[in-house]
Amino acid sequence: AARPRVLSGIQPTADSFHLGNYLGALREWVAMQDEHDAFYCVVDLHAITVEQDPAQLRQRTRLSAAQLLALGIDPDRSTLFVQSHVPEHAQLSWVLECQTGFGEAGRMTQFKDKSARQEAEHVSVGLFTYPVLQAADILLYQADAVPVGEDQRQHLELTRNLAQRFNSRYGATFTVPAAHIPKGTAKIYDLQDPTAKMSKSVPAGVVELMETPKRSAKKIRSAVTDLEREIRYDVDNKPGISNLLVIYSALTDRSIPELEAAYEGKGYGDLKKDLGEVVVEFATPFQEKVHGYLDDPAELDKVLHRGAERARQVASETLRTVFDRVGF
Ligand code: ADP
Ligand code: NA
Repeated sequence: AARPRVLSGIQPTADSFHLGNYLGALREWVAMQDEHDAFYCVVDLHAITVEQDPAQLRQRTRLSAAQLLALGIDPDRSTLFVQSHVPEHAQLSWVLECQTGFGEAGRMTQFKDKSARQEAEHVSVGLFTYPVLQAADILLYQADAVPVGEDQRQHLELTRNLAQRFNSRYGATFTVPAAHIPKGTAKIYDLQDPTAKMSKSVPAGVVELMETPKRSAKKIRSAVTDLEREIRYDVDNKPGISNLLVIYSALTDRSIPELEAAYEGKGYGDLKKDLGEVVVEFATPFQEKVHGYLDDPAELDKVLHRGAERARQVASETLRTVFDRVGF
C-alpha cells in the first residue's frame, strides 16, 4: 500500500528556528518521513500576511530550508519546497476563498489573537484569509494527515469543512485530511517565564538553534527555577525545572524518571550546566550542516527546485480538476 501522505509548513519569519519549533514540531517532521510520503514547505506566502522586508524574507526562506535539511529532512525521501515556487497554492486559495463564509472565517480565533496585537490599519485581508491558504496548502496534495498542535485544530477543522463542502457541491475532488497527533512532541516553555510558551518574540527566554551554542548554554544557566532544591518533574509547582527536564529528556532520549534519579541529591546548577552541554552538542554539528548548505547556494537551489517540481506535479493535477469542476 502507498504510504499515507502528510503535509506541513513552517513560516520563514525568523533568522533561526528555536527549541520549541524543533521539539514541538520539526523533530516530528523528521520522524514522519519513515512511514509517510511527506510534503514539507517553507510558507513564504503566509509570511507576507504581516509586513516583511524583502531581502530579509528571501534570506530567511533559504535559512529555513537549510535548517530543515540540517535537522534531517531528506530531499530524496520527502518533497521539500518553497510555497511561492508553486503558484497553485495561491490559485487554489482563491477558489476556496469563494467557498468560505465570511462569518466562518471570522470565527478563527488565531486571526482574532493576531489582529488584536496589531494596529487596526495594519491588519491585512491576507491575515484574515490565512487559514484558507492553509487549507489550499493541504488539499492541493490530497494529504491524508496533517500534524497539528492545539493552536492549529480550528484551522484543520476549516480545511476539512471546505474539502467536504467542495466534494459535495462539485463531486469527489479532495481527500479530507485527518489530524495526525504527534507522539514525540513536547511543548517547550520560556526559560525566563516557564508558564509561557517559548517563542521567538521573547529573546531572553528562547534557545535559538542558530545562536552561538555558548549563548544558549548561558541562557539555560540563567533559567528561572524555584526556591527548592529538588530536581523533580512537577509542572504546577516547579514549571522551570520541569521545562528543563523535558528539554533534557527530548534531546538525549533519557526518560524523565531516569533523569530525576540521576540528579538525586545534585543541585540546579549541575542540571543547568549539563543541559547546557547537551544543547551545545546538539547545536554545534547542526550549525555546521546549516552552513554547509548556505555555503553552496547552487546545491540548495537545486534541492529546492527539484522539490518544487515534484510538488507541482501533484498540485497541478489537483488544480486542473478543481478548475474543471468550477467551470473554468
Ligand atoms: P513562534 O511561536 O516562535 O512564533 P511558530 O508559531 O512559527 O513559532 O511555530 C512554528 C511551529 O513550532 C508550530 O508547529 C508550533 O506549534 C511549534 N512551536 C512553536 N513554539 C513552540 C513551543 N514553545 N513548544 C512547542 N512547539 C512550539
Ligand atoms: Na506562534
